[in-house]
Amino acid sequence: SEPRPHGRDLAGRRIVVSAGGTREPLDPVRFLGNRSSGKQGVAIAEAAAARGADVTLVAANLEVGEPGGCRVRAVSTALELREAMVEAAAAADVVVMAAAVADFRPASVSEAKIKKVDGEERMTLELVRNPDILAELGAAPHDGTLLVGFAAETEPDSERLLELGRGKRRAKGADLLVVNHVGWSKGFAADENAVSIIGPSDEVLAEASGSKMSVAHGILDVVAARLARGDD
Ligand code: CTP
Ligand code: CA
Repeated sequence: SEPRPHGRDLAGRRIVVSAGGTREPLDPVRFLGNRSSGKQGVAIAEAAAARGADVTLVAANLEVGEPGGCRVRAVSTALELREAMVEAAAAADVVVMAAAVADFRPASVSEAKIKKVDGEERMTLELVRNPDILAELGAAPHDGTLLVGFAAETEPDSERLLELGRGKRRAKGADLLVVNHVGWSKGFAADENAVSIIGPSDEVLAEASGSKMSVAHGILDVVAARLARGDD
């Protein structure tokens, strides 16, 4: 579908977007990562800048180029992402947590490359929980900041998919939650996406599909409408 005209409806708004996927080091040469390419988050940052917003992109290991017109803060681990988000969110009108954050990190990082031992056919990694950045932002006072979360789910049933999204929105204190269905080849590195946007009363406010850029504009349409309402 043709993109609708947006003009500069986000002019003067400060938007912070996290994108990509965190990497949790094990030793100097290895990490635990995930399949997030950063495409959807980068598209949101780029679209917001085109609509006049002042955009900070907190970029975790992007597999795509950085967009123009944005301030970029590069991070790698969940703990680095958290620090950058907490700092940037303090002055933001909108925070979009599109990054895929590792839920766990290795309990310790080896200073030296981990060596395998002859005869040992298994090895166990001990992991510890990472902080939930979105939930922390949602639990802290954030008057005047619209908090947008994402939920990437493999649930094939669309009603159950929405229920998972609603549960995550409530659990994390987000104002809006963008749900998308992912699979081995769907969602992450793909150029196309399909999402539902859940609002503060659990209602589906909008659906958006197509290129990640048109999905980005669909999400920002909802954001812009809510910001405009808040000005009334
Ligand atoms: N998120 C976060 N910090 C984490 C984990 C997730 O801020 N440590 C954010 C993501 O950026 C996303 C939302 O929370 O906006 C949902 O992430 P998701 O991985 O779908 O949800 P989880 O709460 O981690 O639940 P699950 O056990 O399904 O992974
Ligand atoms: Ca998770």
